[in-house]
Amino acid sequence: MNLTIDGDRLNRELHELGAISSEPAPVVTRVVFNEADLRARRFVGILCADAGLDLREDPVGNTFARWTGSEPMLPAVGTGSHIDAIPNAGLFDGCVGVLGGLEAIRALKRAGFSPRRSVELVIFTSEEPTRFGIGCFGSRMMSGALPSPACDTLRDTEGTSLDSARRAAGFGGELAAVRLPEGCYSAFLELHIEQGPILEQRNVDIGIVTAIAAPATLRIDIEGEGGHAGAVLMPQRRDAFLAGAEIALAVEAAAEASGAPDTVGTTGICDIFPRAVNSIPSRVHMEIDVRDIDGTRRDSVIEQINRAAEGIAEKRRVLLRKEVLNADPPALCNPGLIATVERACDAHRLTHQRMISRAYHDSLFMSVIAPVAMIFIPCRGGVSHRPDEYASPEYVAKGSLALAEALGELAS
Ligand code: GLV
Ligand code: MN
Ligand code: MN
Repeated sequence: MNLTIDGDRLNRELHELGAISSEPAPVVTRVVFNEADLRARRFVGILCADAGLDLREDPVGNTFARWTGSEPMLPAVGTGSHIDAIPNAGLFDGCVGVLGGLEAIRALKRAGFSPRRSVELVIFTSEEPTRFGIGCFGSRMMSGALPSPACDTLRDTEGTSLDSARRAAGFGGELAAVRLPEGCYSAFLELHIEQGPILEQRNVDIGIVTAIAAPATLRIDIEGEGGHAGAVLMPQRRDAFLAGAEIALAVEAAAEASGAPDTVGTTGICDIFPRAVNSIPSRVHMEIDVRDIDGTRRDSVIEQINRAAEGIAEKRRVLLRKEVLNADPPALCNPGLIATVERACDAHRLTHQRMISRAYHDSLFMSVIAPVAMIFIPCRGGVSHRPDEYASPEYVAKGSLALAEALGELAS
């Protein structure tokens, strides 16, 4: 098969999609169901329709673009990723897997390939946890890891429920219908930027993921006592922020104390109320991200953070409300699919190495219902979740080519 990637077109489409943002370029911010997310969905939907794919959306907006195979009853081969972007993001995270996946399908079509199994591009809703606090929302629901009744409690910071947000965005129907049966995909392959420095440092074209690290998110709300910043003397204070600051340091200490470089802990959100320079913080809302490739070790770090937070609250005489939003197991990629991707790289003389994904991806949850593998490409300086995130057109095209070759084999 003579597969060629139209790298110029793919690069142009990535930049066009990146320009759809709720903040001025080069910042990409596309929060789920907001105006920019909906505009981005329309942009990608038109490209998929132009490529001759049949589109379907589920009740939370997961989008499926299908190239029907000659044996449509067989489980399909899936690929895809996400187009939502955290605040102050760049234009490659997720989008390389969606637009690179679409270009892989177009390349197969141009090469005259006719698939036996259907090939389906999936655009997952809200891989990023920005709005409702929980990452991989769409794939989590598809896999059954987030049962539909559990969605009733999901609200954004304005108090809007997930249900009303998805309906306002035009996605109706029963949430129970989002779940997919095990076996609906014979394989799922996700193309993504590495979001770390290894491939660039080693000058390797393609990373082939063997396992995805286990993520967890904690929410902590602290209630102290507010008051006048001049009039309330230090011994009388119950400053909620100072308790929060100590907890953030305890997160760092617990992650460092695990003894493994794979354990990481981040306090990414710390909102102070009432946020006035001359007022003692009375309330704090914190969100904490803890990850490890070893789920048990990750859980013991969470335990340590919980214990430290309780001690700090007692010492500072503040009230705590703690919640573990998610604590997911790690995922293993499928050895057969890893070998398929290695063959695909070899067929096009792309250098490759096996590696672990420290970021999470929708493949973490797709692995519950299908064999998965991931194709990583290098990104400059390993930078991600920042506006200066960058992957060269050359590497994006190489990733899309490896994906096309592998999809061709899997759909034959
Ligand atoms: C995904 O965006 C992650 O935070 O790993
Ligand atoms: Mn991301
Ligand atoms: Mn991503």
